[in-house]
Amino acid sequence: MLDSTKKTQSVARALHAIAPPSEDRSFAQDVVLGLSSAPKQLPCKYFYDARGSALFDRITELPEYYPTRTEIALMRDHAAKMAATIGARALLVELGSGSSVKTRLLLDELERPAGYVPIDISAEHLQQAASSIAADYPELEVMPVAADFTRGFVIPRPRAGAARSVMYFPGSTIGNFTRERALELLRAIARFVGANEDERPGGLLLGFDLVKPADVLVRAYDDAQGVTAAFNLNLLERINRELDGDFDLAQFEHHAVWNPKLARIELYLRSTRAQVVHAAGRSFEFAAGELTLTEYSHKYTRDSILSLAHQAGFERSTIWTDPEQRFGVGLFQLAD
Ligand code: SAH
Ligand code: AVI
Repeated sequence: MLDSTKKTQSVARALHAIAPPSEDRSFAQDVVLGLSSAPKQLPCKYFYDARGSALFDRITELPEYYPTRTEIALMRDHAAKMAATIGARALLVELGSGSSVKTRLLLDELERPAGYVPIDISAEHLQQAASSIAADYPELEVMPVAADFTRGFVIPRPRAGAARSVMYFPGSTIGNFTRERALELLRAIARFVGANEDERPGGLLLGFDLVKPADVLVRAYDDAQGVTAAFNLNLLERINRELDGDFDLAQFEHHAVWNPKLARIELYLRSTRAQVVHAAGRSFEFAAGELTLTEYSHKYTRDSILSLAHQAGFERSTIWTDPEQRFGVGLFQLAD
């Protein structure tokens, strides 16, 4: 595997920053800002320390959490067609690659891919997944990048050049962005895959979760074993560990609600009593029952995702969904 740091410095093209520099804050700054706001909120990207990444992997196996197994089935059924449309010698760049499980199904079908760039904020998890891919696909140039994709970062170029670049963004992670931010991100992706260093314009392979009955959605985010609750509460544990916090986890509870107007699941941590908590050298007052927002998970329809992709500049679209219409994978391409 290549040394990603050296590689990113020498061969570069940027996925333009999608957050203004003023939002380029540290964990401590985001926690202080978020817990001083009304209503209180914490960015969901901080879920993914080593423990959070392991908990997320457990979520993907829960009986209630249908997205992962549905998307894997879609990839099993349709990856050959996706790969044929993508064509030979594509550079595959993956946002929020996690354990890179679905990627393997695509790599198995792609013809002589030019390289694979997994990008993730969870550095240790990323290195493990990238090493495992590199061992299993010895011909493939694997160039991991540990980065926060809500900020500007640089994507390495493959040694041999690429016919086109394809951004793979599975897992419905797009749903964790507000609609406005999702559009900004897709526009940045369109600019990136349209860059003219490649032989032809590229595309975006996007996994998105579909709107469905509220009870199914709420169960997926409030499972019987309490794994999602542990995932949510781990954010407070992380603040305790890394920012010298004194959150008493027994005094907060996981809360998941479906917001039908905005077609999104909202995750919160509810303070079970009035309390004062310290972290990052500051103190924060919580009222009894007060909610801290920790995540949005937006759900799409075929029409709403098509409209988003078109607004971002992708002109050609193919969408695959499962027979029960739970999940979708779209291949969105720029015009040649
Ligand atoms: N793609 C995998 C994992 C999805 S979980 C799948 O489909 O199962 C979301 C992934 O995105 C996690 O691996 C998390 O570490 C990563 N992630 C979340 N926010 C991020 C950010 N701002 N920048 C980079 N990676 C991020
Ligand atoms: C990573 N992301 C797409 C997950 C989701 O479904 O929104 C994160 C998650 N949060 C709770 N469960 C899973």
